[in-house]
Amino acid sequence: MYTLVKVSPTPQHCETQAMWTSFALVAAYLSLVAGDVVTNFYDIPECYEFFHKGRIPDLGKDRPGVERICQRFRNQYHFATLYDTHNRIAVYSAYIFERSNGGGRENRWFIEPQLVDPSWHGEMKDGYWLGQDNPGVYLGEKQALNEDYTHSGFDRGHLNPNGHHAVPGRNATFTLTNVIPQNPKLNQNGWRIYESQLTEKFQHCWQAHVLVGAIPSANNWIVKNNVKRVNIPEYIWNAYCCMDGYGRPVFSGGATALNTEQNVVVEHTLDEMVKFLQQYSDTPVGDLFREQCTV
Ligand SMILES: *[C@@H]1O[C@H](CO)[C@@H](O)[C@H](O)[C@H]1NC(C)=O
Repeated sequence: MYTLVKVSPTPQHCETQAMWTSFALVAAYLSLVAGDVVTNFYDIPECYEFFHKGRIPDLGKDRPGVERICQRFRNQYHFATLYDTHNRIAVYSAYIFERSNGGGRENRWFIEPQLVDPSWHGEMKDGYWLGQDNPGVYLGEKQALNEDYTHSGFDRGHLNPNGHHAVPGRNATFTLTNVIPQNPKLNQNGWRIYESQLTEKFQHCWQAHVLVGAIPSANNWIVKNNVKRVNIPEYIWNAYCCMDGYGRPVFSGGATALNTEQNVVVEHTLDEMVKFLQQYSDTPVGDLFREQCTV
């Protein structure tokens, strides 16, 4: 849509150009006010870009209680998350790998205001301050809160990892809609090592699209005050598509890890990933990337 704005300014094109320019301005304005929770990921062009060549996976799209979040921080979109408001963990986060520029760990934990009230300002907010500013409003109906994880015995395990981003994208990964209750050993050892191996691999890509998700458990939860608050997923998984500067595929793959002390990450091809995910889906999983990263 935006490329059309670049129509050459010859006289016969002037009117068209003016039209597209104003259309783009309206679209840009709408994307500013549209907020983070959207009906379709393609409602916001900057959000749609996190998906490989416009392929939004079918995975999880019909699961009851899912919401689409365009993760916004400092008025910029950083990644997209399909969030399961019943299990209070994501189905997946979709992102483009960025080279890290260092920087420490963000010390806030963000939540998504529009999952509390759709009329609230989109853009992730520190859950602590959002609570202070809205006394008497329960923030945790549709999402996990920081206190759910406290003393749970589980890490706040990133799906989209902070190490695959430069500031401020790095900060934006510290939203609770992008974390799962992860076994501490797996988070700090096997999965962390796997993430840094990907960092090395992705140095050879002009661009790499990644999906990272979780398979919810049948009935294993972080329970707080006798309430099942956050599903403790059975597996964490990822899938990636690496492209060269012409947008051609260079390599692809994925991995799965049981969310236990076992601390084992198993690498797979994309076809194996689809077979794996299909075991946990009632509807066809389909391609994770455009033509499964073959074009
Ligand atoms: C991002 O996090 C770092 C700590 O790692 C912090 O110093 C910085 O202020 C944060 N940036 C923004 C824009 O909040």
